[in-house]
Amino acid sequence: MTEAVIYDKSVPERRGVRFPASDVPKASLPAKFRRKGLTLPEVGELEVARHFTRLSQLNHSITIGFYPLGSCTMKYNPVINEETARLPGFAAIHPLQPAETVQGALALMYFLQQFLAEIGGFAGVTLQPAAGAQGELTGVMIIRKYHYKNGQGQRTKILVPDSAHGTNPATSAMTNYQVVEIASDERGNIDLEALKKELDDSVAGLMLTNPNTLGLFEEHVEEVIRAVHSVGGLVYGDGANMNALLGVARPGDLGFDILHYNLHKTFTTPHGGGGPGCGPVAVAAHLADYLPGPVVEVIEEGNGEQPPVFGFITPKHSIGRVKAFHGHFGMMVRAFTYILMHGDRGLREVAQHAVLNANYLMHQLKDVFSLPYDRTCMHEFVLEGRWADAPDVHALDVSKRLMDFGFHPPTNYFPLIVREALMIEPTETETKETLDAFAAAMRQIADEAHNDPDVLHAAPHVTPIKRLDEVSAARNLVLCCMPPGREPA
Ligand SMILES: Cc1ncc(COP(=O)(O)O)c(C=O)c1O
Repeated sequence: MTEAVIYDKSVPERRGVRFPASDVPKASLPAKFRRKGLTLPEVGELEVARHFTRLSQLNHSITIGFYPLGSCTMKYNPVINEETARLPGFAAIHPLQPAETVQGALALMYFLQQFLAEIGGFAGVTLQPAAGAQGELTGVMIIRKYHYKNGQGQRTKILVPDSAHGTNPATSAMTNYQVVEIASDERGNIDLEALKKELDDSVAGLMLTNPNTLGLFEEHVEEVIRAVHSVGGLVYGDGANMNALLGVARPGDLGFDILHYNLHKTFTTPHGGGGPGCGPVAVAAHLADYLPGPVVEVIEEGNGEQPPVFGFITPKHSIGRVKAFHGHFGMMVRAFTYILMHGDRGLREVAQHAVLNANYLMHQLKDVFSLPYDRTCMHEFVLEGRWADAPDVHALDVSKRLMDFGFHPPTNYFPLIVREALMIEPTETETKETLDAFAAAMRQIADEAHNDPDVLHAAPHVTPIKRLDEVSAARNLVLCCMPPGREPA
């Protein structure tokens, strides 16, 4: 990969930019601030442009190829989202501007709150949290405050199924709750009997993902919720998988008390790598007073001539602010655009196509890969990357080999309850041709596992970097592109 190191292109005295002769007197800097031998590559502008364009192409992205990363949902983000987010009236405003000067932005936030409440079947929404995980933290803080307010401080446990995303137990532990793991049954549902054994007045709530991380709809979801409610607990919905339910089922109608959305998964905003994302939280009516503040409200109704006036209010028993200012507004513009572009029927089709694509692919693969929970799946499904006659082949080998075919690997080794898990989520936007090409690659890989496993062990073969020593790569991170020996003086 020497080609990608720009220092190798450096030629002494070559310049990308020439500055005009200085017309101000030279300042004399104290010696300790002067750097000797500034090691910069000496290259022309075109070389730099080519270098960075080439580098950008070394990374896989959904605009380059199929990206079936289960649970993390690499959903295509339409370009129009970027156009609207860059409109100066949205992009160039300041969070401290007086509300009367940003009524359009407040209207967008208000209607996004309304849309998300309607889509999930809830009464109130906060847009503040910066990611799904922070939405979870917000939700569990609401659960805690609600119980304390109602004299239920003895509730110290949060129940979490063993199929849950790691952020669920982590959130509960961060909020000082004791995490109690509940097993899954043989059909991949939360085990109702195991759940009932844990139910008493020490339970603050259950965190339930539906569809769950096996890509399966919880078959007894209403009974599960009723059981938790019967002992005074609340039910938190991890709404990361709402892509499968849009316009078809509403968690609020099923009885969930709280739900977070991952706008990046369901409503096509960039994920942000834990950075500038958005994980709104929706709550049922009895929890609306506990939402983080401020939320956007109509503070003066409109009439035929005047539009309504929007402003901020802080709910009565608010848990307080969970994010500076009002959250990541640019993400809200993108999600709002996506929802408006689709409308209610369009959103329903999103879910239907996501489920159809996942089932189509699952059926193309289940005769050559083991499918531990053989049920109609929702938007994703989980295979096992292991075969009895090929004990040295692992899910990781399957994933590395997939890169030779130009596909991003699926999620590996999650959920934890599936051995050698390969979690595949095609999303709704992929064509039948792409799904067929992926299935053909996976079938070839399954065949190689039986007949030519060394091809898998040595994969990837065609990527610029071959198989990494992942442990060393994580432990000895090299974050600087400067080759050894050329470090600054
Ligand atoms: C099921 C589930 N819950 C929670 C999260 C956490 O969401 P985020 O990455 O936005 O913090 C994820 C990750 O995407 C997830 O897959």
